[in-house]
Amino acid sequence: MKITFYGHASLGIKVNDVDILVDPFISGNPKASSIDVNTLKADYILVTHAHQDHILDVETLAKRTGAIVISNFEIVSHFEKLGIECHPMNHGGQWDFEFGTVKYVNAIHTSSFPDGSYGGQPGGFVIEGEHKNIYIAGDTALAFDMKLIPLQTKLDLAILPIGDNFTMGIDDAILASDFVECDKVLGYHYDTFGYIEIDHEDAKRRFFEKGKDLMLLEIGDFIEL
Ligand code: NI
Ligand code: MN
Repeated sequence: MKITFYGHASLGIKVNDVDILVDPFISGNPKASSIDVNTLKADYILVTHAHQDHILDVETLAKRTGAIVISNFEIVSHFEKLGIECHPMNHGGQWDFEFGTVKYVNAIHTSSFPDGSYGGQPGGFVIEGEHKNIYIAGDTALAFDMKLIPLQTKLDLAILPIGDNFTMGIDDAILASDFVECDKVLGYHYDTFGYIEIDHEDAKRRFFEKGKDLMLLEIGDFIEL
């Protein structure tokens, strides 16, 4: 499994020959100007919630690539009206896709579309694929529900928001890492706007002091599990 950071909460995940994008917000992110959204490949697009900084490039990407959008029922209904092929899910449900099993899990946040219309309840994803399991938290507060995840899935990586203000900050993300029983964390949802700027070295040190590994990738860089 290869995971590429495209800035903010945007990820590329490659499992065998399948390309998955998560929450593509690239063309509107000045920090991600090195990424050309017109060259990205996608077979599936996972969407955690309907906020602009998670859906901006979904329509363009899905229409160019023919990717299937996977999200909650309300977000899927929105994109189906635009002629995009989708797979609806809701909280607690899982489905076996060609790249692995996806479960849509709880997040504590909000989920309106940019025009204010209802985007369902926000979520995160647990993906079990190719003998590697990851948790993509989405935008969320620290939540006891995270403790449910390791009852069923032994995670290899937790992808957690760390920017604070709109989501968990560093201290809560460290607790979230305890809750999901995964000490290997990829941080996301930081630095994009003024409210969520962080001190990288301080963040890594605070995870390290708790025996955990916080990875912060440059935009365009990837890790392999
Ligand atoms: Ni959000
Ligand atoms: Mn966000």
